[in-house]
Amino acid sequence: MSTTMPAPGYLGLIENTPGLPATAYFDTERFQLEMARIWYRNWIYVCRSSELAQPRSFRTFDVGDQRLIILRDEAGVIQAFHNTCRHRGAALCLENKGVMRGPGIVCPYHAWVYNLQGQLLRTSSKRNPDGFELHNHSLYKVHVTDWQGFVFVSLAANPPDFSSQFDTPINRMDSWHLSECTTGHVSHKTMQCNWKVFWENYNECLHCPGVHPKLSQLVPIFGRGLLEERDDPQWPAHEAEDDPRFKGGLRRGAASWSMDGRASAAEFPDLSAEDRRLGAVYMTGLPSMFIVGHVDYLRVVSLLPLGPESTGMRIEYLFRPETLQDPRFDLKNLVDFTDLVMSEDAHICEVNQRGLHALPHERGVIMPEEYVIKQVHDWVSRELMRP
Ligand code: FES
Ligand SMILES: [Fe+2]
Repeated sequence: MSTTMPAPGYLGLIENTPGLPATAYFDTERFQLEMARIWYRNWIYVCRSSELAQPRSFRTFDVGDQRLIILRDEAGVIQAFHNTCRHRGAALCLENKGVMRGPGIVCPYHAWVYNLQGQLLRTSSKRNPDGFELHNHSLYKVHVTDWQGFVFVSLAANPPDFSSQFDTPINRMDSWHLSECTTGHVSHKTMQCNWKVFWENYNECLHCPGVHPKLSQLVPIFGRGLLEERDDPQWPAHEAEDDPRFKGGLRRGAASWSMDGRASAAEFPDLSAEDRRLGAVYMTGLPSMFIVGHVDYLRVVSLLPLGPESTGMRIEYLFRPETLQDPRFDLKNLVDFTDLVMSEDAHICEVNQRGLHALPHERGVIMPEEYVIKQVHDWVSRELMRP
């Protein structure tokens, strides 16, 4: 391997960079610390707000051992609470989702009644004790926001500013008109790996030539093990060329991420020429989700840690509203492709996890092309230190 100086503008790592300690991927105490400091404080993606379309619709949602209820009240406002009664702590809502029958939330244990804003309306006692004030026993509120039809919750008392939730400007994908998109398909997977293993794999393409042969044909720069032009230390050598092997983006003639490279649904009309050339535009919102915009669909991938070595993943496919009625809509063409890529990733993440327990393996090493992993590790460290 050459040790010549990289060209100015090179993005890759130059220094020898150690990975996280191997135990960070399976130790139970470490896992609990990450849940407390990262998952119970940041904004976590729950669902599209269309899943709570009508007043009084609700769903439950678990992050780690925290059980939540998210509902739409009579005024149309989305509310979120811990799924915990203020009397003796029973779970209030036992169904995963539905529409509330009555005007309030009734605890299944001793029938305390709350309104949909979480205020306690009445207890079931013959007489409330002296000094007992209903307003001191409201449900525990959780911060919730509806951004462009994406519902997020934060368990923090003071959640981070949502406008810096993504690694891009918050309006990066406005030309997809995210709030208007409808869900056309959803799939789920459980991966036997730590949640950070998933994000590490997501943030590098050094694995692409070996793990994703078909994707590497569609996005030729991935076939070189690179994410983008400036990941090559000698990138200016090809600056004048417009070959996607060097510039990134789709192979010539392809329009989208699909089995045959064609668009499978009505295209979003307002995308820039550059977004169309790239074929995939990302917004990443650590720790729970990312959105990818293609010319004809959006993919929303969300994660939830299920344990130190187990992570749940959901993939939602969003389309322009008219697409689902369009007879030319070819869902299979795109789902088969992304399912292939995501299955390859899920499998290789499990392979990664399987090797991490070796007693002599204190930590790995982050190679130059994996510079975004270093950024993720730095973010994790900062989050763990944040008071
Ligand atoms: S625990 Fe809910 S009413 Fe008793
Ligand atoms: Fe991958």
